Amino acid sequence: MKIVAILSQKGGSGKTTLTLNLAVAAGKAGKSVAVIDLDPQASSAGWKDSRPGDSPYVLPLPHARLPQALQAAKEGGADLMFIDTAPHTETPALAAAKAADLILIPTRPGILDIRAIGTSAELAKLAGKPAYVVLNAMPVRAPQIMADATAAVGVHGLPVAPVVIQQRAAYSHALTAGKTAQEFEPEGKAAEETVQLYNWLCSVLPKT
Ligand SMILES: Nc1ncnc2c1ncn2[C@@H]1O[C@H](COP(=O)(O)OP(=O)(O)OP(=O)(O)O)[C@@H](O)[C@H]1O
Ligand SMILES: [Mg+2]
Repeated sequence: MKIVAILSQKGGSGKTTLTLNLAVAAGKAGKSVAVIDLDPQASSAGWKDSRPGDSPYVLPLPHARLPQALQAAKEGGADLMFIDTAPHTETPALAAAKAADLILIPTRPGILDIRAIGTSAELAKLAGKPAYVVLNAMPVRAPQIMADATAAVGVHGLPVAPVVIQQRAAYSHALTAGKTAQEFEPEGKAAEETVQLYNWLCSVLPKT
């Protein structure tokens, strides 16, 4: 079982959006996938309550129970686990980072957002796990913002995922409807970039 932790100490950067869109993409690609929601706000778990069916399995959890839950998921045959985390709390984020094979740090492209990824970058370093920044909610057709954001992220010494998630209404409308972009608008651009991000993620997940 591979474990992907989604961290960002900044609120509203897109942790839950990314977690759920990637988890559903993984399920559609045939993976046995689950989500652990370490955020006391329980946004991922609330989203799950608002949709029919069992997939993806979403488990809200205090971080102290993370090792037991991961062990149970592994024994239950899960292929892929996403851990959604809360902002402004370092101990649970570090627990998720240590448990993970790979860390994704979503950030909006504003300079104040990008400056705030320093703490998440330190947590990833402390955990000794590979980490990528995912630029989220990027304005469409804004090459200068893209160039500035990529340069600003570089200051933190972290690579940037080559797939950028744009600002698209489909992401927020989908979550409101208990769906992801792929389910809400299967032929849309948000669905397309979600699949691209998922495929890229699979290509960088450690193989062993
Ligand atoms: N790419 C995007 N395009 C449009 N809306 C987005 C995008 N990413 C996130 N949002 C919206 O921004 C808001 C915050 O996103 P989200 O809840 O995923 O962030 P978060 O990092 O999980 O927040 P928190 O720190 O509170 O847990 C949500 O309303 C979501 O629908
Ligand atoms: Mg969240």
